[in-house]
Amino acid sequence: MCGIVGYVGARPALGIVVDALRRMEYRGYDSAGVAILDGDGGLAVEKKAGRLENLDKQIAEVGAETLRGSTGIGHTRWATHGQPTDRNAHPHVSADGRLAVVHNGIIENYSPLRVELENAGVEFSSDTDTETAVHLLEREYASGEHAGDFVASAYATLRRLEGAFTLVFTHADHPGTIVAARRSTPLVVGVGDGEMFVASDVTAFIEHTRDAVELGQDEVVVITADSYSITDFDGAATGGTPFHIDWDLAAAEKGGYDYFMLKEIAEQPEALESTMSGHLQDGRIVLDEQRLSDQDLRDVDKVFVVACGTAYHAGLIAKYAIEHWTRLPVEVELASEFRYRDPVLGRSTLVVAISQSGETADTLEAVRHAKDQKARVLAICNTNGAQIPRESDAVLYTHAGPEIGVASTKCFLAQIAAAYLVGLALAQALGTKYQDEVVREFTELEQIPAAVQTVLEQMEPVRELARSFASSDTVLFLGRHVGYPVALEGALKLKELAYIHAEGFAAGELKHGPIALIEDGLPVIIVMPSPTGRALLHSKMVSNIREIQARGATTIVIAEPDDEAAAAIADHLIPIPATPTLLQPLVSTVPLQVFAATVAQSRGYDVDKPRNLAKSVTVE
Ligand code: M6R
Repeated sequence: MCGIVGYVGARPALGIVVDALRRMEYRGYDSAGVAILDGDGGLAVEKKAGRLENLDKQIAEVGAETLRGSTGIGHTRWATHGQPTDRNAHPHVSADGRLAVVHNGIIENYSPLRVELENAGVEFSSDTDTETAVHLLEREYASGEHAGDFVASAYATLRRLEGAFTLVFTHADHPGTIVAARRSTPLVVGVGDGEMFVASDVTAFIEHTRDAVELGQDEVVVITADSYSITDFDGAATGGTPFHIDWDLAAAEKGGYDYFMLKEIAEQPEALESTMSGHLQDGRIVLDEQRLSDQDLRDVDKVFVVACGTAYHAGLIAKYAIEHWTRLPVEVELASEFRYRDPVLGRSTLVVAISQSGETADTLEAVRHAKDQKARVLAICNTNGAQIPRESDAVLYTHAGPEIGVASTKCFLAQIAAAYLVGLALAQALGTKYQDEVVREFTELEQIPAAVQTVLEQMEPVRELARSFASSDTVLFLGRHVGYPVALEGALKLKELAYIHAEGFAAGELKHGPIALIEDGLPVIIVMPSPTGRALLHSKMVSNIREIQARGATTIVIAEPDDEAAAAIADHLIPIPATPTLLQPLVSTVPLQVFAATVAQSRGYDVDKPRNLAKSVTVE
């Protein structure tokens, strides 16, 4: 949700900043802009509504030489306050044209600040909350307590702001210095050789350095080409958390695929392997960065999973396994609903917060609510040092590598695997499974990457099928047991990528209403339970298929190879390898991802950047 970057060094800033924006465009693509200091007191700004390519064209028209200099900031926007127009694009500039700011998040007290500024004669040139910050700083620098001191004026300005934000300031009088601050939304420093970066995400500077420093909550960093200093908002040194990025530029590039999403679908076997790697040691499940003792786990008497979107579906799937293995009650709740309904939580409740980005505002607020109620919180996250793991008691990283396509794919499978590890760790601590059973479940999980690889190698017929249904107006998805959340996920993928009305249902619910939707030729995708593992559910699903076929539906059935009943009745069959029932979602989801991506491509859409969406949603 908005990507921001700042660069100070010896090289021309423009190319570095624009390349950084290109790699962070997944965070927002409503508009983009840059501000470059020429070092002689000049500040040049270019910004444009729409995707980064529009800004590229504008820069080519005005001439890149107008944006010379080796200090620069940039922004790619997902609009919150104000339409995605040129006028509202960042950077925003002070009235004297000497100060520029880029911003991610929301300044919640912008209304009273705007009134205060307007009463003082300031004219606003955008509808954004961001502009209040640049005017406040301009006034502070001109006539405040710290007049003429850019850094001290920035601190004074930051102390007046409320909300969740990352801000990056630069001033024409101070080339070679950038001030940036973090409150809830992410900010990392990239430490180069004679150059420094600040950015929302390490992908912005991975090409230049793999040494980074994570800022914590309410921290400010001042960077120059050779130094960085991190403090709280009052200027007291804090230091940040240095880390080394363990993946490289290739992981953040498309590697020959047309879209990141297609690459990320293909990377799923590896993502699963990395997520599971090292978690079985000497016959015991070990969760890294667990920070919860075996006794803490033994004390758990209830599990809540909180998450949004695809991560919520991972939680729904995990519920089946965690309840089965631990006999603990597991509730799965949309994070956006959780804290508004007074859930029953206590010291013995384990709240598992699942978030690929670790930034999702709804999930973060759910974590805070759980902690206020004294519950233990364990985060499942793919982003090192993000806010949700920072505020949780424990974290289990998914190690899926960077996921850049807005639609979550490899992180979804990795989240399911990680949640299963949590279930096994709980079963181990509580003694609800014998240790050899825990090891057997883990060993079965270890077979899944190979099964996913098999599915990936058989996807051409799915792509053909998807192309033939690309003009459908509605597609329904049906599942039972663990197949039900898979159906929800299949529908979400199709909605968000192909903008087709898609809904997932528990197949047993059909006759309670949704069957009224069935009409001639309506495509219905069915996730078939195993004919051996879930014989009863399987036979009920066969009946459901017959019911909808009788009413004209065209059925596309995802089924195991020995499922003769499914093969006999399906209009179209998508085979998947046989797996233990609880693990089936890890393979049955894959054709649905491929189906959605192919339909979207056939309709001419950009599957990496679906309309109106952004990769991380840092506002509630
Ligand atoms: O970063 P998170 O895992 O917390 O994100 C949660 C959802 O916003 C995310 O899964 C979203 O639903 C994706 N667009 C789904 O593909």
